[in-house]
Amino acid sequence: MDLGIKGRVALVTGGSRGLGRQAALTLCQEGCSVAICARSQEGLDQTLEEMKGLGYHVIGVQADVATAEGTEEFYQESIKAFGQVDIIVNNVGGTRGGRDFDSTTDQDWLDTLELNLLSAVRLTRLGLPSMKERRWGRIVNIASIWGREFGGGLTYMSAKAALIAFSKHLALSLAPYNVLVNTLAPGSIQFPGGSWERFVNGNSEEVVKEFIARQLPMGKFGWPEPVGAMVAFLCSERADLITGASINVDGGQSRSLI
Ligand SMILES: NC(=O)c1ccc[n+]([C@@H]2O[C@H](COP(=O)([O-])OP(=O)(O)OC[C@H]3O[C@@H](n4cnc5c(N)ncnc54)[C@H](OP(=O)(O)O)[C@@H]3O)[C@@H](O)[C@H]2O)c1
Repeated sequence: MDLGIKGRVALVTGGSRGLGRQAALTLCQEGCSVAICARSQEGLDQTLEEMKGLGYHVIGVQADVATAEGTEEFYQESIKAFGQVDIIVNNVGGTRGGRDFDSTTDQDWLDTLELNLLSAVRLTRLGLPSMKERRWGRIVNIASIWGREFGGGLTYMSAKAALIAFSKHLALSLAPYNVLVNTLAPGSIQFPGGSWERFVNGNSEEVVKEFIARQLPMGKFGWPEPVGAMVAFLCSERADLITGASINVDGGQSRSLI
């Protein structure tokens, strides 16, 4: 299947490792020019070298998209390099600070919301006017199954649920402009340098086995490639009737009927 996005320009936040890296790589393979960002220049350099070595048209911007200034810098550098933005993948996310109610300060709430929700809101605000004008755009926000149902830390689950709500609302208002907005909800995906690798390395074999038996119907952790493939599909011409959806990529991990 030809996804029909050769020559499109994609911005992926947090593309130096994990799911963002895989999304960026897959969009490159489909012929997009891709801008990625990360806070660590070292991580960026490694990924960029690998991708440029494969002949892909990609730039990296050292920027913290949990801040308005960092998001603006990422956007402006991308425009400088590629001239326009057709696709935005808001990928950065995670938990900052406490995980339950008693251990969570106001600052933890604000930091987690900035990372998961406001980073997406701000980059969308920057890229949207020209997408609307050109009547073509794709926005994929990386949420989590733990934003669609119970799981993870309190602030994380709340922030991902808010990201899904934001995406749904935006999707309906942008549908007439052919700017499609969806969320992708991964389950537990393992990769080098990721949180599930740390979980596996930091716990006894018994604890890990018990987690897998309880949580993962396939009997193993997920892997990034299907996430990258789903991102590319949602960003494609072939997905032109799909907007406002939240799609699990989780090997059956989530329990919800919807
Ligand atoms: N992995 C999973 O199992 C899983 C499951 C469900 C949902 N998700 C969601 O999927 C997304 C990606 O997860 P992941 O596991 O691939 O994450 P990760 O291991 O934390 O990697 C995130 C990427 O984003 C960059 N990054 C982090 N914070 C940033 C910031 N403030 N500004 C710019 N770049 C930043 C990182 O580089 P630097 O550290 O150098 O900045 C890295 O390139 C997140 O939204 C996460 O919540 C992941």
